[in-house]
Amino acid sequence: MYTDFNAMLKEAYSRSGAVGSFNWYNYETLRGIIDASNETGLPVIASFGAKYLKNMSLETAAAMTRSLAEGTRQSICLHLDHCSDKAVIARAVRAGFGSVMYDGSSLPFEENLRNTAEICAIAHACGVSVEAELGSLAAGEHSHEGSADDREVYTDPAMAAEFVSRTGVDALAVSIGTVHGLYKSTPNIRIDILKEINAAVRSPLVLHGGSGTPEEKLLSCIQNGISKINVNTEISEYAVSRSAELLKNERPHFSVLSLKQAEWIKEIVSHYIRLFACL
Ligand code: 13P
Repeated sequence: MYTDFNAMLKEAYSRSGAVGSFNWYNYETLRGIIDASNETGLPVIASFGAKYLKNMSLETAAAMTRSLAEGTRQSICLHLDHCSDKAVIARAVRAGFGSVMYDGSSLPFEENLRNTAEICAIAHACGVSVEAELGSLAAGEHSHEGSADDREVYTDPAMAAEFVSRTGVDALAVSIGTVHGLYKSTPNIRIDILKEINAAVRSPLVLHGGSGTPEEKLLSCIQNGISKINVNTEISEYAVSRSAELLKNERPHFSVLSLKQAEWIKEIVSHYIRLFACL
């Protein structure tokens, strides 16, 4: 069933757990994510990035999610990931997405804040939740989100508190040392900064760049206010490696390969859903 992002994150935040948010772009990835939610009995965020509009339209993404989520008793939220185009966000709201991420992180503070507040007014009036971002992440290897020019800028705790109270945003993505993609060297996750942000903001925070982050660091982030963790690259890498391994020795029908791929996605997503839930 389709669910409210805001309620999902508030519930996770109140018990120091987090909801996994996994990027999808085809039938196999969405099927795997929803099957993982069914298998674990836990909620999930199916995150369709504006990046993947070449793979399918927002309307197709919403129709597919509605159809596959209908058959489940678990809470599934269809989320629009990283979008800086207000027209695309408006279309996602109209198409039936449960939440949207307005990414104004490259803009000056006041401009990001003004745009986010505008998106919140429209989305909230339609019952859709909003995520925004303050600070920015560097890009690691195989990143599909970032580019080599992305600079790491840690989120400032006082600015984060002001941003959330003036915009009314439902969740804030923060920069504390994770990268989009795989790490080029040992990650330095700044739990000290996160603690200050959490103490100042006191509402759900989001961690982008989950791939390759040591699990004990992810758990420490969850204990300190992170209620949503995004994972993309690692899941794609896993499915591509398993596919390559299989294709070395076999030449299955495409329909069989598709089923196997959905199964591999389910395996890795289930692992992360359980880890993040902290039950
Ligand atoms: P990774 O690809 O590093 O897991 O990041 C995913 C992400 O942040 C999606 O917005």
